Amino acid sequence: MQNWEDPFAPLPETSAPEPKVIVPPVAAAAPMTQPLIDVKPVNPDDKRVVNGMTDINQLAPFKYPWAWEYFLNANKNHWTPLDINMAQDVSDYHHKLTMEERHVYENVLSYLTTSDVLAMRNIGLAVMEKMSAPELQIYQARQVYEEALHTWTYQHCIETLNLDQGEIYNRYRVVPEINGKIQIANRRLDSIMRSDIDLTDRDELHNFVMAYIFFAGVFEGCWFYNGFSPIFALQRRGLMKGTAEQLQYIMRDEVMHASFGIRVVRQIIQEENVTLDVNEMRQMWDEAEAAESAYAGYIMRDPILGYSKEDHVQQFRYIANRRAKQLKVAQPFPGVESALPWLDEQANLRKEKNFFETRVTEYQTGGALSWD
Ligand SMILES: [Fe+2]
Ligand SMILES: [Fe+2]
Repeated sequence: MQNWEDPFAPLPETSAPEPKVIVPPVAAAAPMTQPLIDVKPVNPDDKRVVNGMTDINQLAPFKYPWAWEYFLNANKNHWTPLDINMAQDVSDYHHKLTMEERHVYENVLSYLTTSDVLAMRNIGLAVMEKMSAPELQIYQARQVYEEALHTWTYQHCIETLNLDQGEIYNRYRVVPEINGKIQIANRRLDSIMRSDIDLTDRDELHNFVMAYIFFAGVFEGCWFYNGFSPIFALQRRGLMKGTAEQLQYIMRDEVMHASFGIRVVRQIIQEENVTLDVNEMRQMWDEAEAAESAYAGYIMRDPILGYSKEDHVQQFRYIANRRAKQLKVAQPFPGVESALPWLDEQANLRKEKNFFETRVTEYQTGGALSWD
């Protein structure tokens, strides 16, 4: 049988009888402290997203039942990268992709691998500890796992295609156009990665809210969401379909991360009476657009069939407006139309598939998740 304490230990050749388990006699129980009989269950109305004083270990009654629903829904999109057949991708990458398409593919993976590590650290190390309602932390714990799963997925693609791992992973440090986006995210993360932040301080609270808006609305909501599109453009032409399917699963997670984060931020704004600084919001969108534009210029420096730098930037603006609407703030790029009318259909896992080429695992009702 598997040795769970040392899973790499060689298995015994013959099945020896199980060793007898000797149960030691139970020691006399220490006297317990009596619970206080006048302690009442947590009143959900007293819960707050941050700065709450209620017992963080008492899950229910919920003040934020929607957070629990997110957790239940997230568990419907349950998958691993091993579920998806990558055999055709190996052939496509080495025999069908042009040099320009390989450049796009590798740099998309390179950006995403680093970004997902960052996303995991943001939620798990900087955000979760500042939440004061457990139902929010439960979904965020799932989100931390999902970010790790996404990182595994990119690693699985990189290994399957036998790409140079050290070189791919290092690109965010040596390619300025990738580094620009990572630096912006790192700056936000560094500003909230302190456990001594006092969120009753209005400046600290405002900074935390802006960092949360950035990560949910821009980093996950726009950059991630938009970041998969170049691969979906290859998929539309029958190329790299395994990778694209992996990204479809990831995209479904990211859509939920973005909408959950936006909902949390709106709740904080309401509970703590936060007024967003209009100029700071404008700066955030402009900085995000400039970084995305530089990134698009690098990954699509030479044209590929069916996708362009202009498409990428226009789609960023279109998605940014969608996130602003969810945040209930002014749209940063009014009137911009979608550059990729095929995207929602392309990204939808429910569409017809060739079951001889891919092994699709539709868990429960995950395909019914909405794309907002
Ligand atoms: Fe992710
Ligand atoms: Fe995410």
